[in-house]
Amino acid sequence: MEFKVTRNPNPTPASEREEIIANPVFGAKLTDHQVVVVWEKDKGWHSAEVIPYGPIMMDPSAAVLHYGQEIFEGIKAYRHQDGSIWTFRPEANAARLQRSARRMALPELPAEIFVESLRQLIAVDGAWVPTPEGEKTLYFRPFEIAAENFLGVRAAQRAEYRVIASPVGPYFTGGVKPVSIWIALDSARAGKHGTGEAKTGGNYAASLLAQQVGYENGCSQVMFLDAETSTYIEELGGMNLFFVYRDGHVATPSLDGTILHGITRDSVITLMRDRGIEVQERKVSLDEVREGVKTGDIVEVFACGTAAVITPVGTLKSSVEEIVIGGNEPGRLTVEMRMELTGIQYGIRPDRHNWMLKLAD
Ligand code: PLP
Ligand code: COI
Repeated sequence: MEFKVTRNPNPTPASEREEIIANPVFGAKLTDHQVVVVWEKDKGWHSAEVIPYGPIMMDPSAAVLHYGQEIFEGIKAYRHQDGSIWTFRPEANAARLQRSARRMALPELPAEIFVESLRQLIAVDGAWVPTPEGEKTLYFRPFEIAAENFLGVRAAQRAEYRVIASPVGPYFTGGVKPVSIWIALDSARAGKHGTGEAKTGGNYAASLLAQQVGYENGCSQVMFLDAETSTYIEELGGMNLFFVYRDGHVATPSLDGTILHGITRDSVITLMRDRGIEVQERKVSLDEVREGVKTGDIVEVFACGTAAVITPVGTLKSSVEEIVIGGNEPGRLTVEMRMELTGIQYGIRPDRHNWMLKLAD
């Protein structure tokens, strides 16, 4: 598919851009361009374009505004020491976008168009990819919306895929410092046969009330339990979770339909198994974690995701308890896995699984 490119006639002045990428704030500033590709039921995907960044002209009856048919991805561009720009496992994000599309009755974007859309955006906005110090990257936000002007409730007959990008630093500011997590005891994110494993806006909308309560209680993310029994730990509002045991094995909640299939999660499992670490994908109950931390059987907990990379969890808190993990210090395996993963992403450790794809020289 050919992309038509229209350059922004008023790009951000270079000095302003340099200032932004020197101290990026997650999602606060966007680059000068965006990608748009249109899908129509009778025509398929067409009209791929790179256009100046700017508002979307949308009819007030557009389906996405009423019924929430929206899916998105999160993926980063990394600048290596030689100046080249790379991304991490883009086919995995492309495949997840397709799975999300199926669940939300949106059209599936071919993986080649997904990968090409990142390349195209970097071709015009490559100067927005920061240098790696302080774990800076350019965060792509590919997304798809039902963009037809019709109030009837149905599968999309016209959709738009777009990509915007924002220079970012670590999602949690303050370095590798353990974060506090609020346990949502009376709020669920996703239920059986629902949309939990689709990366769709509604799941995040469902998480915000509990997250707000978490913020009010000094926590930076919220942890959701299974909606049916409030027994098993699922994931955070925007990250997956891992539990490290004193005997060396690691557990992470299994992908039972309500949890996002995190690409960082999958990568961490692979890297740990490469090291001979036993990783169990299974149900992990809050009781097990409370008990394990108390007895010293659980020595580290960490959260992971594209935005969060790998972040130690120091405290789990709710209205009835406070569980402090590992003396609120980052654990050894947590720090090692973070160095290993970011080392691969920034091109300073061997990429044994061929996860990196070059987007520009
Ligand atoms: N879980 C949720 C709910 C998320 O939003 C994310 C972020 O994308 C993740 C987990 C981690 O997924 P990934 O590692 O693919 O970024
Ligand atoms: C990501 O890591 O890409 C996410 O979507 C999570 C969110 C906290 C921004």
